[in-house]
Amino acid sequence: MKRVKIAELLKNSTAEDIGKDILLKGWVRTRRDSKNVVFIALNDGSIIHHIQIVADTEKFDEALLKDITTGSSIAVYGKLVESPGQGQSYEVYADKIELYGKSPADTYPLQKKGHSLEFLREIAHLRPRTNTFGAVLRIRHAMAYAIHKYFNDRGFYYLHTPIVTGSDAEGAGAMFRVSTLDPKNPPLTEDGGVDYSQDFFGKETNLTVSGQLEAELGALALGEVYTFGPTFRAENSNTPRHLAEFWMIEPEMAFYDIVDDMDLAEDFLKYLVQYALDNCLDDLEFQQKMFNKQLIQQLEGIVKNKFKRLTYTEAVKILEKSGQKFEFPVSWGVDLQSEHERYLVEQHFKKPVILTDYPKDIKAFYMKMNEDNKTVRAMDVLFPRIGEIIGGSQREENMEKLQKRCKEMGIPEKDVWWYLETRKFGTVPHAGFGLGFERLILFVTGMANIRDVIPFPRTPKNAEF
Ligand code: 4AD
Ligand code: MG
Repeated sequence: MKRVKIAELLKNSTAEDIGKDILLKGWVRTRRDSKNVVFIALNDGSIIHHIQIVADTEKFDEALLKDITTGSSIAVYGKLVESPGQGQSYEVYADKIELYGKSPADTYPLQKKGHSLEFLREIAHLRPRTNTFGAVLRIRHAMAYAIHKYFNDRGFYYLHTPIVTGSDAEGAGAMFRVSTLDPKNPPLTEDGGVDYSQDFFGKETNLTVSGQLEAELGALALGEVYTFGPTFRAENSNTPRHLAEFWMIEPEMAFYDIVDDMDLAEDFLKYLVQYALDNCLDDLEFQQKMFNKQLIQQLEGIVKNKFKRLTYTEAVKILEKSGQKFEFPVSWGVDLQSEHERYLVEQHFKKPVILTDYPKDIKAFYMKMNEDNKTVRAMDVLFPRIGEIIGGSQREENMEKLQKRCKEMGIPEKDVWWYLETRKFGTVPHAGFGLGFERLILFVTGMANIRDVIPFPRTPKNAEF
């Protein structure tokens, strides 16, 4: 007999299926005993809903029934019946139950309901078994699929950019070294430094902080490309919005200017949020009930509202005049903190905001310089609850100007000569952006901490699972 998943069963069953024999497999969420029957709530991860299994105590071996406890895994052969209970349409009368694995009640960490998210982080190997993490991980999957679909439908090509790189794309210097040298006894150069020419790649290499520079190489050949992969930042920022390992989606488009770039970013985010509303409603309703009573309304707000676009300079004026007491004071030239970004989005405009034309000194070397020589053609998309969700820009396509920026920012040309050559041979205006995947999932799921939207979070002092 072929096993049916609970998601298929609940979606596809009709009146004609009542009374049919079926086979379900999954994990026991709860077990409740009444006089002659045991009620088992079974979940198989395919959907947030459990299905109730009704087992007649007379039909089953007492020893078997005893082992059917929270967390144990079973196969159930039985008949589909209409459920008299509220909130469920079907249940299954069990004819035969096979036990795959016990789950001793005295040691199973998820024996009881209602554990804190902090506790669940300590058992990241088991937390996918909870309703919350099931919902988050299914939504995460749906968003990854929607991202590929969005770009594929629009003729963008998925470009796989390297994880190990020899360049620091963002110039932030917060990178994880990749090396096979003996840390206790590395080869040294004459002046006492580590001799990386003897390392595996014959040079200093790190985990990438962004696939952008390589995506640009692709865009300047294929037209419109995107990367979607893990990125790594060794910044010691212990915030609810930063991970040391996170996934980033980076589209890069030839012949786009900054306005085209913003238009794409806005359309892309609206598409993804709408996709979640259309395809993940069961999980979203669960998340709304548990974590954020306004969740679905907030998601609809993204789709409905036109994002407000203004310059960094205008935003700083608004913040200075706001009379708001910020932990970090604002003035022209400072990097905005999430408290400033959220003030603009949540209090002032009450809709998503796209800020443009940031001071050159707080942005990366590759951004296109404006006529004023003070600001660059950058754009950040700011969201409620999140702050910055996307960072992007039009790129400097002029060779001399780009070389000048490299010099000013201390980036040796020998490290990025291959990037510079795209400006030497057939350069074109182009633009792109990076969407932090986990920040998107934070927003869509209504969770508050980025550690709770990735299966195995990597943060300072935390890489156990
Ligand atoms: O603004 P960032 O640093 O931009 C870039 O890396 C560009 N190369 C993107 C591009 O133009 N192709 O990062 C982009 C986004 C941020 O807006 C944020 O959503 C996310 O990546 N992000 C992080 N997410 C989680 N943890 C971190 N430590 C993050 N750092 C950035
Ligand atoms: Mg940024």
